[in-house]
Amino acid sequence: MLRIGIFGATGYTGLELVRLLQNHRQARLVFAHSESNPGAKLSDIIPCLYDVPLIKADDAPLADVDVVFSCLPHAASAELAARVLAAGKKVVDLSADFRLTNAAVYEKTYKHVHPHPELLTRAVYGLPERYRERIAQTDLVANPGCYPTSTILPALPLLEAGALAEPVLIADSKSGVSGAGRKPSTTTHFVEVNEGLTPYNVANVHRHVPEIDQVLNDIDNGRTPGGVNVIFTPHLLPISRGMLTTLYVRLTPEARQTDWQSVFEKRYANEPFVRVLPRGQTASIAHVARTNMAAISLHPLGGAVADRLLLVCAIDNLTKGASGQALQNMNLMFGLDEREGLR
Ligand SMILES: NC(=O)c1ccc[n+]([C@@H]2O[C@H](COP(=O)([O-])OP(=O)(O)OC[C@H]3O[C@@H](n4cnc5c(N)ncnc54)[C@H](OP(=O)(O)O)[C@@H]3O)[C@@H](O)[C@H]2O)c1
Repeated sequence: MLRIGIFGATGYTGLELVRLLQNHRQARLVFAHSESNPGAKLSDIIPCLYDVPLIKADDAPLADVDVVFSCLPHAASAELAARVLAAGKKVVDLSADFRLTNAAVYEKTYKHVHPHPELLTRAVYGLPERYRERIAQTDLVANPGCYPTSTILPALPLLEAGALAEPVLIADSKSGVSGAGRKPSTTTHFVEVNEGLTPYNVANVHRHVPEIDQVLNDIDNGRTPGGVNVIFTPHLLPISRGMLTTLYVRLTPEARQTDWQSVFEKRYANEPFVRVLPRGQTASIAHVARTNMAAISLHPLGGAVADRLLLVCAIDNLTKGASGQALQNMNLMFGLDEREGLR
């Protein structure tokens, strides 16, 4: 039985992890951390099977666990993850702290000096559909961001095949409000969000842009001179959870002859958490909410824009976009069936 600790158990991703862990037959929660509620029990915050007390980080019994999920804001996460690794235990970090491999890019993006840049090359990017073998070997997984997951999965088979005629992918993404975390702000509280739809961080300045670019280029593997770039526009949707990305790409003349529906179906045939929808169907948040599934639909264009392919990817930002993928990664790290706890 794997023994689990969670830093940040009272946030949205921490609570989603608790929800999922209750269905995991080979893992049990040993500690749950909260800085602001020490002394309370986890079951006081959310009705759940785990009657464990909420403890401060300094009191975390690291000797008693095999793996820790860090569901903390960036910066705080790297500090605690380093402590867990030093104790000889594995870490799945849900924050952005270990996703970018270059410390200078991290500092520019997250506006502070990385507390443990020496760990950046040790971390493996936790997208099983691309890095499964490496995830199984590591003790530090950088769990992908939700927007990157929903953007990279529909781009992956195209990049692997070298199908892009131009080095730019356009991604238009929408997220439920839980993507912003549990603490409300002026832009995320009910009245601001309800019955609206707002783009934010427009002009390619969202923090996930460098992460998406890094992974797209890793997949492209130097094939595209000058590298591949995303133009990424996020929107806040007036729903609690779920995420939908529409991706526009331009194909090479050879790639325009390819039946991409068949290529995608083959590429993802053995992936337990990616479904390529039948021709004519469109991916939708409602179909994947509260599951670890990514639904992808392909929409070839005709006429004057027949050189383009349009793709839609829907996930749940808290599950495949965060805690579900984190659990999938933990299963891989310990040689378990990666579907355990996620069926
Ligand atoms: N929400 C999503 O859809 C999503 C998706 C992918 C990745 N992520 C990433 O996952 C991480 C957690 O996100 P979330 O949405 O769960 O956040 P959240 O709802 O705001 O929860 C944050 C948690 O961290 C704790 N915390 C806050 N500041 C802390 C500090 N300085 N030191 C120690 N603990 C602190 C809070 O505990 P107390 O307040 O109880 O002390 C709370 O349990 C973030 O890095 C986020 O970027 C989120």
